[in-house]
Amino acid sequence: MKAATIARYGSPGVIEVRDVPTPVPGADEVLIRVHATTVNRTDCGELLHPTLIGFMSGRRSRRRILGMDFSGIVEAVGAGVGLFRPGDYVFGMCPFRKDGAQAEYFCMPESGAIAPMPRNLRFDEAVLCEGAYYANASVEKFDYGPCHKVLIYGASGAIGTAALQLAKIRGAEVTAVVAGRHLALVRSLGADFAVDYTADAFNTLGRHHDFVFDAVGKLGIGRWRRLLKPGGVFASTDRGPWSQNLFFLLWAKITGSRRVDVPLPKRGSAQAFVNDLKDKIEAGQYVPVIDRRYPLADIADAYRYVQTGEKAGVVVIDIVQ
Ligand SMILES: NC(=O)c1ccc[n+]([C@@H]2O[C@H](COP(=O)([O-])OP(=O)(O)OC[C@H]3O[C@@H](n4cnc5c(N)ncnc54)[C@H](OP(=O)(O)O)[C@@H]3O)[C@@H](O)[C@H]2O)c1
Repeated sequence: MKAATIARYGSPGVIEVRDVPTPVPGADEVLIRVHATTVNRTDCGELLHPTLIGFMSGRRSRRRILGMDFSGIVEAVGAGVGLFRPGDYVFGMCPFRKDGAQAEYFCMPESGAIAPMPRNLRFDEAVLCEGAYYANASVEKFDYGPCHKVLIYGASGAIGTAALQLAKIRGAEVTAVVAGRHLALVRSLGADFAVDYTADAFNTLGRHHDFVFDAVGKLGIGRWRRLLKPGGVFASTDRGPWSQNLFFLLWAKITGSRRVDVPLPKRGSAQAFVNDLKDKIEAGQYVPVIDRRYPLADIADAYRYVQTGEKAGVVVIDIVQ
């Protein structure tokens, strides 16, 4: 099979699209014929910082093939698999510990983050789980609801567009802060207020938000404190400028304050999450946001683009054109 392989870590120039053996599913695994995948920030981080990601995931050996989001068709199943059959259309997220979906085939356990593909999406649209998974960790932990005013900073990225949609599904009032070129996008996704972070309007936003969610890790404490009402909570997906969120997180743990958090998804929740996301998509409550598409042969260019930090939503790799 064709796969985007990395023999060593580094810049996108180390990625080589070449023929490798097709994997064989274990007893509890499904073999998936990948139709589409993405290049996202997790992939870029792993390409550059394998040690940190490897440490976080408990992985001993290096992955040769990256790629988290996938959509495709079940090609074969192991003897112990009961949930899926060959021919099923599926979507989800690859496990960290195994080779990923930037290939024509990959294997994953049937108990992983895999679900039937939403009936109203094409393969090249159904590659949207990872951003939503990380956004949902905050949305669920803080139980966003109709009585909450939520400010989402960086609402144009994969996590930001997901957080915006998930917060609106729960009835929260959402202020989406983005660059001017993304204002129309966040309004189309349901933002109650759309604010350009380069304009004066951002500096004059009031101190009345129950939650400030920094979806891109760019907000310093001077900014988020001015946006939160007393008792409000700041959450982020990232370490923040100069890794300051790690310090505030530690301080919050020591003092027992709830003011700062970097919520992570609950262990073992991924399959239920992907099934729930499928239901939201089929109900028309959640839509994919796609920036660019690349063929597998040009995947290094996709990495270069994602590394700019300028993408809106996801960057799709079409494995089957
Ligand atoms: N918690 C986790 O385990 C986890 C998992 C995955 C990712 N992450 C982290 O979460 C962050 C977001 O990931 P992502 O995939 O959603 O990112 P992404 O899609 O690459 O986000 C890019 C978006 O952020 C916007 N942006 C860039 N600079 C900005 C600024 N100063 N203010 C406001 N918006 C800005 C960009 O638009 P403009 O350039 O036009 O402003 C672009 O639309 C990353 O730092 C990533 O490392 C964490």
